[in-house]
Amino acid sequence: MNSFVLLQSSLIPLLLITSFLSINFQLSVCADDTVEYANCSQLITCGSVKSNISYPFWGANRPEYCGKSGFEVTCEANVPVITMRNIKFRILDMSNSSTTTTTPTVKVARQDYWEDICPSTYVSTTLDFSLFAYSSGLLNVSIWYGCNATVTVTGNSYPCNSSIAASYLTQTRAINVPIDPVTTGACQYKVLVPVFESASEALDNNATDIETAIDGGFELDVLDADNGLCTGCLSSGGVCGQDTTVTNEFKCFCQTTSSSTTTCIESSSPSPTSAPSGIISFSPYRYTDTN
Ligand SMILES: *[C@@H]1O[C@H](CO)[C@@H](O)[C@H](O)[C@H]1NC(C)=O
Ligand SMILES: *[C@@H]1O[C@H](CO)[C@@H](O)[C@H](O)[C@H]1NC(C)=O
Ligand SMILES: *[C@@H]1O[C@H](CO)[C@@H](O)[C@H](O)[C@H]1NC(C)=O
Ligand SMILES: *[C@@H]1O[C@H](CO)[C@@H](O)[C@H](O)[C@H]1NC(C)=O
Ligand SMILES: *[C@@H]1O[C@H](CO)[C@@H](O)[C@H](O)[C@H]1NC(C)=O
Ligand SMILES: *[C@@H]1O[C@H](CO)[C@@H](O)[C@H](O)[C@H]1NC(C)=O
Ligand SMILES: *[C@@H]1O[C@H](CO)[C@@H](O)[C@H](O)[C@H]1NC(C)=O
Repeated sequence: MNSFVLLQSSLIPLLLITSFLSINFQLSVCADDTVEYANCSQLITCGSVKSNISYPFWGANRPEYCGKSGFEVTCEANVPVITMRNIKFRILDMSNSSTTTTTPTVKVARQDYWEDICPSTYVSTTLDFSLFAYSSGLLNVSIWYGCNATVTVTGNSYPCNSSIAASYLTQTRAINVPIDPVTTGACQYKVLVPVFESASEALDNNATDIETAIDGGFELDVLDADNGLCTGCLSSGGVCGQDTTVTNEFKCFCQTTSSSTTTCIESSSPSPTSAPSGIISFSPYRYTDTN
């Protein structure tokens, strides 16, 4: 019993040293976060055009550790673009989540349809549904290409070139088309592009044109954006990112403060959780010692 107590008491200084070393180590690691903090507090900027695109997006001036896998943004002619399933979407806007329960959203538009409803290939809109979901309040516009001149099912027609014309209908009107003209062989291709309900209504009222409606874009919910963690990190003064050494691990980068992995804590009063908890765990040994 005596030797057991002795062994335990001789361990105390060692354990204390170890625990202080780990605190010091944690602080020195955090000093390095200032570089990540500086980089990840920047919003995506293409050329001189500043966006409001932040976590979980990365790319351009934001290093990979400032976002999550799959959310890479590239700049094309000073426009932030995300590519999914070979479809390029320009990101028009982002609203970040201000609370733990609201999902961040991005407003995107088809890059190949920008200012032109006659793309070189005809691809319906699809997403990487592990990363994004369509927000509510959207309606599809159907656009048919290469229809027989005699076909009567389609709506407003627009010539792409001498051999191909585009004809479109809003979702509200397309309901009246009983059989898809591509199925009957009357048209060669059909493309679905989502627009806001308001844009769809404006189209039906001749209050806008198809280009303006499509360029207005549509909204996507950003899934898996670490809402709770990121909101907590931001409110503690940090910026959201990913651990540079552990893959798929959320990390809160801090400026002048020490960091746990998810929030920033004042460095002047070192991590209130780690220091006392170490001492508390030794207290049973001390009581044994005095007995
Ligand atoms: C979130 O959005 C607000 C309002 O647009 C902006 O002031 C803030 O900087 C944004 N935060 C991040 C981390 O992007
Ligand atoms: C991060 O920021 C530093 C300066 O703050 C800069 O030198 C560095 O190139 C940036 N990029 C990366 C990937 O760290
Ligand atoms: C994002 O930035 C654009 C232009 O810089 C601005 O019009 C828009 O209101 C901003 N969106 C949010 C959610 O702050
Ligand atoms: C018309 O445009 C399509 C692509 O939209 C193209 O495949 C086709 O060759 C063009 N035809 C002519 C006559 O330019
Ligand atoms: C638009 O079409 C796509 C592809 O078929 C579909 O996933 C999406 O739910 C449709 N959107 C609406 C609002 O019906
Ligand atoms: C157009 O009409 C012709 C003759 O009826 C038919 O052979 C063809 O499949 C139709 N469709 C297209 C897209 O040309
Ligand atoms: C819109 O224009 C089309 C053709 O130009 C016409 O048939 C239709 O009645 C118009 N709709 C409204 C709501 O004015």
